[in-house]
Amino acid sequence: MSKESELLDACAIGKLSDISRLLDDGVDVSYQDPKDGMSALMKAADGSHLEAVEMLLSAGCPWNLQDHEGYTAGEYGMHDAAILERLVDWGVQAELVLGNVENQPAGGSGVLPSALPSASQQQQQVQRGAPLSSLSSASVQRGATLSSLSSAEGASTSGDASQAYLSQKLHYSEDGTKLLDADGEAVMMGWEAPLMIRHAELICRGEGKDVMNVGFGLGLVDKAIQAHSPRSHIIIEAHPDVYNHALSLGWGTKPGVRLIKGRWQQVIPQLLDEGVKLDGVFWDTYAEYYSDMREFHDMLPLLLRNQGVYSFFNGLAPDNIFFHMVYSRLVKVELSKLGFKTSYLPVNIQEALEPSVWEGVKNKYWHFKTYFLPECCLEPS
Ligand SMILES: C[S@@+](CC[C@H](N)C(=O)[O-])C[C@H]1O[C@@H](n2cnc3c(N)ncnc32)[C@H](O)[C@@H]1O
Repeated sequence: MSKESELLDACAIGKLSDISRLLDDGVDVSYQDPKDGMSALMKAADGSHLEAVEMLLSAGCPWNLQDHEGYTAGEYGMHDAAILERLVDWGVQAELVLGNVENQPAGGSGVLPSALPSASQQQQQVQRGAPLSSLSSASVQRGATLSSLSSAEGASTSGDASQAYLSQKLHYSEDGTKLLDADGEAVMMGWEAPLMIRHAELICRGEGKDVMNVGFGLGLVDKAIQAHSPRSHIIIEAHPDVYNHALSLGWGTKPGVRLIKGRWQQVIPQLLDEGVKLDGVFWDTYAEYYSDMREFHDMLPLLLRNQGVYSFFNGLAPDNIFFHMVYSRLVKVELSKLGFKTSYLPVNIQEALEPSVWEGVKNKYWHFKTYFLPECCLEPS
């Protein structure tokens, strides 16, 4: 029996003395059973052996490996709160370290502990269906796989993917419940209406507020925002087809509404120059990456008033519940550094799981029963 197979067996039963000996012997901690793809960390998590999990993580066993079914150690440990918490925390810390390295100027002296995995070493998409884990590359983004968006259009960066999307012809379904791209992938769908109502409630918090929505799509969140009679309502929309659709629905002339054509990357600096201050902001774009989301978040403290509320479509890694937990926590930690207190409110969304909802859509982009609605409040400074 190889040392690696021995390690799998020892982890399954939590035999710490054997695990320790094998680690000292230089066993390959990244080894996955060819039969099912299980790693030592998955075995230890599955068997609820917290100390073994600690030893493996410290020895460099990657936290984000997936077995042949796409399950991670996090899913194997989901029945054990302590193990799940340890794995989520490890994933977040790993991403934070790598994120910091990414943000350093080239040639910076950041040191990567060898134990840390490399999920952040690629740019990651954040919207509907977008896999955040570099290991879940088979998953689709709402509308298009990252690779199809990138390779088909020769795109290799976030800006390229966005440009590829923005130059596509879009299509609104006749019943008005779907916005599809040129490949028939969903950019936005009507089943999300109850979620958009909840997002609007959060960012409006009563009447007479100054609010902004980034990404018009089907106009669901904007309709819900109007129900709160905001004092001012800015809408930023980058795609010409969507912008024209919004105009055709009368959004260009609604009292108190300012519909702006352009990417938020260009529009928000202009708004800041004008001295715009807001009580609520919602962000829900498409074909953008985690690095874009970070860039957007960095602007928020300049835009929002004290105690202002921010929310976003939480499509972080929607193909894998463990990665979804890690990236939701990562956003929370990063926003706290900007002065936000974030909580996630669970919302049941059974309707999204009905097969009929997805008829006419190339790829299903949502797989969970629960949506974790982000509420991010800017704390008084
Ligand atoms: C998922 S849809 C938004 C759905 C919307 N929340 C609703 O309630 O219907 C995403 C929208 O963001 C727009 N978008 C994508 N990138 C953008 C950017 N950089 N700036 C502004 N809008 C963008 C897309 O064209 C699309 O209309």
